[in-house]
Amino acid sequence: MSDAQKKFYLTTPIYYVNARPHIGHAYTTIAADVIARRQRLLLGAENVWFLTGTDEHGQKIQRSAEAAGIPPQRFTDEVSAQFRSLWQRMGITYNEYIRTTEPRHTQGVQKLFAQLYSRGHIYLDTYTGQYSVGEEMFVEGPPGTIGPDGKPTETVTEENFYFRLSAFQGQLIDLIESGEFCVEPEARRNEVLSFLRGNVHSGSSPASSSSGSSPAHSSESVILSEPSESKDLRFSAKGTSYVPGALKDLSISRSSFDWGIPVPEPAASTSQKKHVIYVWLDALANYMTAVGYGSEKPEDIAKLEKFWPADLHLVGKEIIRFHCVYWPAFLLAAGLPLPKKVQAHGWLLFEESKMSKSRGNIVRTETILDAFGGLKPKPIDWPGAELSDEYWKHEQDLFASDVLRYFLLREIPFGQDGSFSFDALVQRYNSDLANGYGNLVSRTLKLISSNFDDTIPDHEEWPIVTMLVDNKKNVLPSAANSYSVPHTELALFAKAACVFYENAFSVLKFSQPVDFEEVRQALSHEQKIYLDNYSVLDSISLLIQQTDGYISKNEPWKLAKRTTDEDRRRLSEVLYNAAESIRIITGLLYPILPYSTAKVWAQLGLGEIEAAAKSGQLNNLTWGGLQPGTKLGPLGPIFPRADKGLIQIMTDAEQNSAPPIPSKLVDEKTTHTAPPPDSSSHPGAAPRTSGLPNQNAGSHVGGSGSPVAELSRPPAPHSEAPASGIFATAPAAASPAPDNSPITIDDFVKVDLRVARVLVAERIPKADKLLRLEVDLGYEKRQILSGIAQWYAPEDLIGRRIIIVANLAPRKMRGLESHGMLLAASHGEDGKPILATFADSDEIELGSRLK
Ligand code: ME8
Ligand code: MG
Repeated sequence: MSDAQKKFYLTTPIYYVNARPHIGHAYTTIAADVIARRQRLLLGAENVWFLTGTDEHGQKIQRSAEAAGIPPQRFTDEVSAQFRSLWQRMGITYNEYIRTTEPRHTQGVQKLFAQLYSRGHIYLDTYTGQYSVGEEMFVEGPPGTIGPDGKPTETVTEENFYFRLSAFQGQLIDLIESGEFCVEPEARRNEVLSFLRGNVHSGSSPASSSSGSSPAHSSESVILSEPSESKDLRFSAKGTSYVPGALKDLSISRSSFDWGIPVPEPAASTSQKKHVIYVWLDALANYMTAVGYGSEKPEDIAKLEKFWPADLHLVGKEIIRFHCVYWPAFLLAAGLPLPKKVQAHGWLLFEESKMSKSRGNIVRTETILDAFGGLKPKPIDWPGAELSDEYWKHEQDLFASDVLRYFLLREIPFGQDGSFSFDALVQRYNSDLANGYGNLVSRTLKLISSNFDDTIPDHEEWPIVTMLVDNKKNVLPSAANSYSVPHTELALFAKAACVFYENAFSVLKFSQPVDFEEVRQALSHEQKIYLDNYSVLDSISLLIQQTDGYISKNEPWKLAKRTTDEDRRRLSEVLYNAAESIRIITGLLYPILPYSTAKVWAQLGLGEIEAAAKSGQLNNLTWGGLQPGTKLGPLGPIFPRADKGLIQIMTDAEQNSAPPIPSKLVDEKTTHTAPPPDSSSHPGAAPRTSGLPNQNAGSHVGGSGSPVAELSRPPAPHSEAPASGIFATAPAAASPAPDNSPITIDDFVKVDLRVARVLVAERIPKADKLLRLEVDLGYEKRQILSGIAQWYAPEDLIGRRIIIVANLAPRKMRGLESHGMLLAASHGEDGKPILATFADSDEIELGSRLK
């Protein structure tokens, strides 16, 4: 590996400071911390840079500050500090925390703007359009259009500076298609590509829902203008076809408010007005300003050289366009290197819809830290009792933070959406940590303690065998990797787990069930294993389960009661193997559970895990590394069982939670009259209508639900099969025979039919009839599963406008949740579905109701 590659720079989004952090923010930050810790093991801490921070400019923040009655800088100081102190409570090991109100950032953004201007990529023009303040973007549609945040847009007429985004269409397509600029997961890459191409498909492309006055350079989501006369295709350098003009120029300044970074000279004096730089250009630049862009100091220049380009931008899927279209375009235009990869994860859903500040359906991380921290009280009359309360408080926080880290990565396949519930959190903790890993550690170490005087026992010499690792998909060279492994059952499994783990970590596949039986068969028959499909956490579960089974099978507690030399020898062998397996499990778990694994490491008598991490021991977990004769550390419970009562404690804590912006801030710091933070300016403070966690706790994977209340659409009272055969849905479930008696209009209006556009369509592994769709209703996006895979190719659906039943109760199929149903006519003998769609020329808004 060359020196240039031997570094890893990763980032989280910088979070808006309009309201306090919630576990959605914690999710990204945790994932980044896990990756950073692993990269430090691989590359050395000095070669890893982990950046997070806060996004503090723009109209949304300015208004939140006004609503709280305090100057924006003080407001952002306070909220940014809340994010920062939460990360500290959680033991997040960021290397740097950037705030966009810092002078170093302002300086860098102005330099970038000036660079774009001097290279001819910026011009001045006037535009009238609909602006969504919540999402800080222009959207298409007539006045009062519902923006992506579910609120009406505002009409904005402004003279603005424009960025020639349109000039980069072909280049961006090529960079993404070639993988030079990598976008993951695949569904998101397809979404970005389809957007960049102007939605060119084999089938027809629906017409735009534009207001008709689409200016040459309108902004943001405008980009998807519809190529109804799309004969005039263009080809990129690499031969990909796209619709020229589909990517519009982007407004990159605002002059109606002043909370932002001023447009610098010489551009500034070409306008009569004072402009501030568009908040997304400002925000995205943080990834470079944080590592020195814009500074002339030699140490900053060196830092930029070392770390830029970023290796990984970790983001939530809703901001993929900003990161995969605008950001690389700005960089190309400025002549700067592009980041290597943008990885999007899915959304945490709570009470059926995306957890978000503006919806108010949030769960605070603090609630979880407080509740789980309570499982680890400060000891009385026990070593450590002399330490300060503050020390113990931090221990509790770090412990609870481990629980949340584990849960979020384990429960939600990275990249997909998943429901959060307190119920599932407690269940998962008890089953995997208290009963699984924790129990394995405590029973093994207790047996060692009582039978071998707190000392790791000896083992026999093992014969060495060769283990082969292959990859079914032949992604790796077809020649298998081979490993020399001691011939004991557990050593083989440990090696398999390590290989799976490494492979899965490199593609950030944290969770996805392993077919344990398949691995077992492979290992016992051919000693050849397959790499694909195993995730980080399932690799570890595999080894935990196997070690548990090994102990149960060998019954060391019985051996301990017998007295022959052979029994003693076997007891020593069994306990050595179990302890060695635990050492390897613990090393693998370290990036995910940094606090708890440190405790286990110490109990194994191995000292400080951080020291082991630094010296490379956690990077090289080969069987036999545990030295017989090692003295165990003091034992004690690592994961006390959680009572179900914890669910109620957390639910209550959330219901009684303080307003998002501490009222203290308003009370103490305001010099002029401040309105109290109310639910309209801080919807996070709104009392919850249902404090109960999602009852559907069994399903943790689903599409984005709907903010039903906001649209005052009561959820459908019935979820039975539809009354007519025209609905195309999942595998033709036996639907009741159509009842032909007339219905009243009241019956009809219960069915909420809406216009939606297909954003993503993909096949579902092992389900040959089903397609997974993500559709845009204008006011929200959701996931729908439909049994049309035999008739429609996914790529033919993307971009089409269809009709969906929007108020159908969610249904689970193949572990995925479907939030609605497509409308299709059933044709011919085999009931081939023909989708109900709109003609290209039809002007119809997404989300419009059919009645
Ligand atoms: O978008 N599920 O900031 P933001 C999963 N300032 N992740 C979630 C989430 C949820 N329910 N809610 C939030 C912004 N996140 C911009 C970013 S970057 C140059 C500027 C996480 O406060 C997720 O990472 O709205 C998402 O992308 C991010 O927080 C959005 O935070
Ligand atoms: Mg957001």
